[in-house]
Amino acid sequence: MNRNLDPPIRLLYAADSAEDDEFYRVLERQPDFSAVGFSHEKTLDHVISADCVVVRHGTGVDGIAVLETVRERYPDLPVVLLGPDDGVLASRAIAANVSEFVPFAGEDSPTYLVERVRSAVAAGPRDNCPQLSIEAIGVREKFQLKERAIEEAPVGITISDAEQPDNPLIYINDAFEKLTGYTKEETIGRNCRFLQGDESDPGAVAAMREAIDREESVSVELVNYRKNGETFWNEVDIAPVRNETSETTNFVGFQTDVTARKEAELELKREQQRLEHLLTRIEGLLQDVHSDLVQAVSRADVESAVCERIAAEDPYEFCWIGVPDLSHDTIVATAQAGAWSPDNAVLDIDLTTDSADISPIVETYETECAQVIDDPNDLAVIVENVPSTVGDADCKAVATIPLVYRETLYGVLIVCTTEEDALNEREAVVLEALGRATATAINALERERIIVADSVVELDFEMRDLFSSTSPLDTAPMSSTTDRSIERTGRCSCSLRLISIWH
Ligand SMILES: Cc1cc2nc3c(=O)[nH]c(=O)nc-3n(C[C@H](O)[C@H](O)[C@H](O)COP(=O)(O)O)c2cc1C
Repeated sequence: MNRNLDPPIRLLYAADSAEDDEFYRVLERQPDFSAVGFSHEKTLDHVISADCVVVRHGTGVDGIAVLETVRERYPDLPVVLLGPDDGVLASRAIAANVSEFVPFAGEDSPTYLVERVRSAVAAGPRDNCPQLSIEAIGVREKFQLKERAIEEAPVGITISDAEQPDNPLIYINDAFEKLTGYTKEETIGRNCRFLQGDESDPGAVAAMREAIDREESVSVELVNYRKNGETFWNEVDIAPVRNETSETTNFVGFQTDVTARKEAELELKREQQRLEHLLTRIEGLLQDVHSDLVQAVSRADVESAVCERIAAEDPYEFCWIGVPDLSHDTIVATAQAGAWSPDNAVLDIDLTTDSADISPIVETYETECAQVIDDPNDLAVIVENVPSTVGDADCKAVATIPLVYRETLYGVLIVCTTEEDALNEREAVVLEALGRATATAINALERERIIVADSVVELDFEMRDLFSSTSPLDTAPMSSTTDRSIERTGRCSCSLRLISIWH
């Protein structure tokens, strides 16, 4: 196209002193340009008759101020800004919607300016995306990078307009959409409180309200609701954004889903409360059992008191004590208490069968180790071996606790619960402590018997397998006219005591 046939491009050149300006002189020489130079104040008076304004930023001219004023009055007029390539000016120019930014960058700059002026005018009315010189592209990329970083950040980012009534959202990023399930269309223009619901902590909402009213930063964690109604723990950080005159124009908010951490914290708190409850309960139970044990005058007293106390305690349902009766190769029930009341006889366990393989009670008797049985198959064995004690459906776990004092096993304490997961390791520790206290009390009573006995013959000898489960010796009565018995005090290397008390 031959420019000379077209009307010239009317240029207004705003500079401190246009006549001495090498850029102005180059523009002036262009046959298709009709350039007039003014000081910046005068430029504004003539803008109406221009096709393009070129502003030289520098001494005496605030290029950005001129650009902003022109924009206010003539939003579509091309404005080219000339200035130092310091990054800051270009950024401000972009923010003020410059058409072209041409940096002072060496000898080619005037020629380059001519090209950019032609290009700005040819582009017609200014669109919202300023055309930048090659040199300024780095600045634009920085902007785009920031924009992408915000858009693609892994946390929700929201911006509200504090100058509009009720502080509505004017921007949300992709992560906010993913986090909440609400789209941009459903969100923009609304106050962010639409995420709150019944479970949102009013204290946290008040903290946000007060901080926003005071134009201060705030961080809270509260329950919010996704679009599908699901709740999540939202860590919300809000900060005011101020303009050059320190007025708060916007708020920026960051939303982070902290549900996993919050649930772990809450579970820890619940666990602490459970532990505190357990400790209080154990303390009470141990105190009660100990005072019963101290008052007991016979082994039968001890056993029934222990069973009564344990069965009365939540979550225990039923408990009994099985004591070896080796003269009949049986573990016989000597005390029981709780929700069921089977005949003692049905609780007995025959030791002649190879029951150690199948009954956890016999196994505890053999190994002197406590067990908690909650596996349904193992439970079925106990229920099957102890018919009519508990129904399969009711019994969720059984603990078998040896009653051992030093090397002497006095029996097995069996505790049943109908509560799922109630008999855990901690409960087993409590029951083991009770088992030891019971065995100690039984031992003390047995020793008392020895002290009041008319005669005690103690034989020490070593024998293998004498006290296996099939041994007839444990505490065996000898005669009805005397309270005379043989008592074993060890398992392999043993003592026998012959205790006789004449009636
Ligand atoms: C930028 C910004 C982001 C916000 N993000 C959330 C949010 O994610 N969840 C929320 O419950 N409240 C959020 N709020 C707070 C609410 O919008 C509102 O300020 C709060 O509920 C207190 O005001 P109100 O008592 O009038 O509801 C945000 C506020 C601002 C300004």
